Formats: sequence, C-alpha cells, structure tokens
Amino acid sequence: MSKETAMLPKAELHLHLEGAASPDLVRRLAARHGMALPADLFTPAGDFAWTTFLHFLKVYDAASTVIRTEQDYRDVTYEYLKACAAEGAIYVELMSSPDHAAAAGLSYQGHLDGIVQGIEDARAETGIESRIIVTCVRHLGAERAVEVAKAAVRHQHPLVTGFGMGGDEAGFPPQLFAQTYRIAHDEAGLACNVHAGEAAGPESVWAALRLPVGRIGHGVRSIEDPALVTELADRGIVLEVCPTSNIATKVYPDYRAHPLRKLMEAGVKVTLNSDDPPYFATTIGHEYAVAERHFDLDDAALRQVTRTALQAAFVDEPTRARLL
Ligand code: ADE
Ligand code: ZN
Repeated sequence: MSKETAMLPKAELHLHLEGAASPDLVRRLAARHGMALPADLFTPAGDFAWTTFLHFLKVYDAASTVIRTEQDYRDVTYEYLKACAAEGAIYVELMSSPDHAAAAGLSYQGHLDGIVQGIEDARAETGIESRIIVTCVRHLGAERAVEVAKAAVRHQHPLVTGFGMGGDEAGFPPQLFAQTYRIAHDEAGLACNVHAGEAAGPESVWAALRLPVGRIGHGVRSIEDPALVTELADRGIVLEVCPTSNIATKVYPDYRAHPLRKLMEAGVKVTLNSDDPPYFATTIGHEYAVAERHFDLDDAALRQVTRTALQAAFVDEPTRARLL
C-alpha cells in the first residue's frame, strides 16, 4: 500500500461480524469455554480451512459456535474495530447474525448488548464510528428469516440501523424473502441491503431490486446484463464490492477478470469491503491497496469510494455530516 493509501480515510459497509473473528481469537474463545474445535477447522499454517463457497459457509458456522456470550461478541467487535481504526477506517457497518448467536446459545438481546459494548469501547479509544446491520441467513428458510425481522422490530436500538441477508444465494433467491424485508423495512424502520450477484447471476440482482433495498452486497455479476448495469446506475443503487472475497470464493479467477472498474465506468456507485477478512486473507486496508494496485484507482478515486460509502451508510444525518 502506498503511504497515501495507508493514511486515507476508509469506510466499510460489508463485514460479517462472526466472519471477522481471526483464527487466533476463535482459539482463544474456544479455550475460554473449554471447547474442542474440529481438527479440520484450520490448515497446517493455522488459517481457516475451506474449499468451495458452500463449504466456506459450513466452516464459518463451525467457527462461529465459539462466540457464545455477550463478552465474546463484545471482544470480536472491539478487536475488529480497533484493527480497522489502525488502518485508517473511520466508519464500519457490522452485519450481525442472531441465528449464529442462537445456535451458540445466546439470545438476540445478549448478542446485541455485547456488540454495542464493543462499538462503544472501540469508539472511546479510537473515535471509529460503527452501526449494526441485523442479518438473516437465507438457507435457514423464509420462516426463520421472518422471525429475525420480527425480533428486529421488538429489540430496536439506535445503533441497529440496517437489515440484511447472507447465506446460500443460489439455493434461496431474494423473492422468497419479500415478507421478511417488508417487516424489517416497514415495521422495524430499518434500511436494507441483501447479498445478490455473488453466488448467482443477474436474475438474482433483478429479484433483489424488488425488495426495499438501497444497497446490494456484492452485485458484481450484474456486469453480465447491460440493462441491469444501466438500472443500477440510474437508480443510484450502491454496490458493496468485496474484490478479494470474490477471488477467494472463485466468482472470478483473478483481479484482472473482476468487473469493479467496468462497473465504475458504467456509472454504478461502488464501495470497497473485506466481507470475512480472515477467511479471505484480507483487511479493509488491503482492499483499498488492491484497488490502487490492481484497479488503478488513484488517491482521488479512493477518496470518492469512501465518500460514496459514507453517503450510502445506514447512519443518522448528523453523524454522516460529521464523517463526510
Ligand atoms: N455469510 C458470510 N459471508 C458471506 C458471503 N460472502 N456471502 C454470503 N453469505 C455470507
Ligand atoms: Zn458478505
């Protein structure tokens, strides 16, 4: 990373909190709870061991079981935000998964209280601002997703500003979740995003655009349909692009094949994000460095990426104005 890029203010809109726990932290949390981890969770070098996208989701589920108390969620949040702040991030949105918390035996309120404490501790030390996007898991089905949206209605908190959805996009298309998003958007009053155009093609993004969303997680496979690219540009839909994630999960073979630059040139608003940093050997700082090195974005273009993220952030207007 050039010295300028290292110093640049950065903002991240697409980060899975459970996917931000490093192998080291996962080991420490397992030790805290006296849990034995599956022997095949890590490579001999100590990284998370996974092969395909669906296998990644399974390994992610297994590693997430160690995050099981309010204190654990606080620690994952705090450690991630501190590391981001050290790389120049001023704002991060964290996707939390009440379903992963529940699978580990923790209540919605417990997971939320832990995350809020982590955000407040990191802000007090570094000044970094953060908000929470409550996220459902599409492959657990529409009924479970509706329950997560209803929980978001019951447990409102000023730092919870968004609702989203991850998981198996190819098997569970956006149209199954119209009711979920109606509840999250209309009843909980949350701004919404959804993963689309990552593990499935343009038809998934078209379906996602019928949900009440202002942003799309990934969205990169929109490039396969010129009419869709025009639609995204005309509607000002912001893409949460995660270049290194897309290479790791084999959406594209390498950065040269990745459409980030083409999407920008077509007038689509893009942001840079790390997704699940330790799984993909990246960080938010690394994504900005990748954009500089592989996509030829200069200092001004990278500053515009940060501005785009802050303009699209699910945050109150006074905070946005202060950060911009
Ligand atoms: N959950 C965690 N990371 C994800 C990703 N990259 N895509 C879909 N769901 C996810
Ligand atoms: Zn994601």
